[in-house]
Amino acid sequence: MKAHELKRRRTFAIISHPDAGKTTLTEKLLLFGGAIRTAGAVKSNKIRKTATSDFMEIEKQRGVSVATSVMGFEYKGYKITILDTPGHKDFAEDTYRTLTAVDSVILVVDSVKGVQEQTRKLMDVCRMRNTPMIVFINKLDREGRDPFELLDELERDLGIHTRPLTWPIGMGTRFQGVYNLFDKQLELFTSGKTAVHEDVMAIDDLDSPLLDQHIGADSAARLRDDIHLIEHAYESFDEGHYREGYLAPAFFGSALNNFGLKELLETFVTIAPSPLPRETTARTVQPTERPFTGFVFKIHANLDPNHRDRIAFCRVCSGVFKRNEFYYHTRLEKKLRFANPTSFMANEKSVIEEAWPGDVVGLFDNGNFKIGDTLTEGEQLQFKGIPRFSPEIFRQLVNKNPFKAKQMEKGIRQLTDEGVAQLLIREQGNVKIIGAVGELQFEVIQFRLLHEYGAECEFHRMNVYKAFWFTSANKEQLARFLRLQNHAVAFDKDDNPVFLAEGPWSFNTARDMFPDIEFHVTSEFNAGESDAQSLISEQTSSSPRSLL
Ligand code: G4P
Repeated sequence: MKAHELKRRRTFAIISHPDAGKTTLTEKLLLFGGAIRTAGAVKSNKIRKTATSDFMEIEKQRGVSVATSVMGFEYKGYKITILDTPGHKDFAEDTYRTLTAVDSVILVVDSVKGVQEQTRKLMDVCRMRNTPMIVFINKLDREGRDPFELLDELERDLGIHTRPLTWPIGMGTRFQGVYNLFDKQLELFTSGKTAVHEDVMAIDDLDSPLLDQHIGADSAARLRDDIHLIEHAYESFDEGHYREGYLAPAFFGSALNNFGLKELLETFVTIAPSPLPRETTARTVQPTERPFTGFVFKIHANLDPNHRDRIAFCRVCSGVFKRNEFYYHTRLEKKLRFANPTSFMANEKSVIEEAWPGDVVGLFDNGNFKIGDTLTEGEQLQFKGIPRFSPEIFRQLVNKNPFKAKQMEKGIRQLTDEGVAQLLIREQGNVKIIGAVGELQFEVIQFRLLHEYGAECEFHRMNVYKAFWFTSANKEQLARFLRLQNHAVAFDKDDNPVFLAEGPWSFNTARDMFPDIEFHVTSEFNAGESDAQSLISEQTSSSPRSLL
């Protein structure tokens, strides 16, 4: 393993609430890297609200999001990979999963709107893995909120410590630029009709009259006060704290006007981590290890009915992935070889010979993969950290054509392997329950079952408020719970039991009655296998289902 190849890689995601400027920022970064030449080349992968009832439109837009879901480019010797995430909240699980494949994130915040709902959720996911984060506060060319107030809000709402590395001078029509606290220089914003220039000058000493000359006495006085306050109120920037996910450096600018991005990118390549070690069920895998390992974090189906293949996106975690080598699929316990692995450099797909840790490889798949699957050179391990989250909407899947039961079964299994939604099965009556985050997911399933598998389905509403995976060290209590709540227990695809609570009251009652049972809102609470499952299996030497 060439250490140099590892050190120069930066794999990250840009996350934001829709409309904060993620697409614009992505495009500008690609322009910097020379990966694209003209603005407008990166299509927004937003699925706009108006598209809710127009499925083909959704698919078209999803198609766009595939093309741009991994973007690699070179910048000053660094190999940068941006993993894009869907903006629409109904596909939030896609975003969560993508975050498991990155080493750091850039959070874009709209300076007018501040922290918004989706930012909070994304942040929760980042916190699970202590993902290092840089904050970019965007749209300074608009009349936004006070920068101190914005940072306070980030700290309060997202529970993250911030440290400004640039500081804005005015905003909206009075936006003059930023002071770079790291490099001690003034970066002036001059917006022209066709181009935006950044005038940069070193100003080590803020008391220098040069400052007054360039931005005027009032702005200079205000900036001096602000910087004084920052130096006293915020802890100094510590790279170690950033890498631990404890401290997020903050930058101010305007993606649309290409302002403040260079500082962001330069700092990013300098401080952002190269590929990090990753936890597996067996041990920690270091990126420097010689044997190849990787995991699938995203699967995208080809929607052309003549080409049923899917692309599995595999993040390389260690070693070097090579074309036409046999690799071990640890869940299926079989060897697979890939003749046409693709990379996604410069917004274009091309077949690659090898890939390094941090790289994402597209593998053509005809049904071997599901999200979270691991490839190795023979070692039996499974990467962790790809949790499923408790869904928010539950519907019973009903087959409308009994002659197509097999197609329906196959279709729903494959679609849920892709991560389109979650499948839970209630033993009583063999009820198939689809758990989703948004309505669009049901539309996707219905459409795809029909067009790809010839199976017709409908969804019936269910009285379920939330699903909780559950575990307990108290075997007797666990068995009693399973018996008593028989009607409200389903199993996920890995046979982990899930409690379907009808409302907050039923959940609270269950918790009061069974104090030794722990309820979880993500599927990953213990090495990918639930305690409930292993304990019950131990006790009965069979699946937890036998206790029902
Ligand atoms: P997203 O991917 O996070 O959803 O956001 P996107 O980049 O699509 O940006 C959302 C809107 O905000 C776009 O306007 C974009 O032009 C605008 N925008 C992005 N950065 C800035 C900025 O620095 N300043 C200002 N004033 N606006 C910014 P739109 O009208 O929704 O779309 P479009 O028609 O311009 O594409």
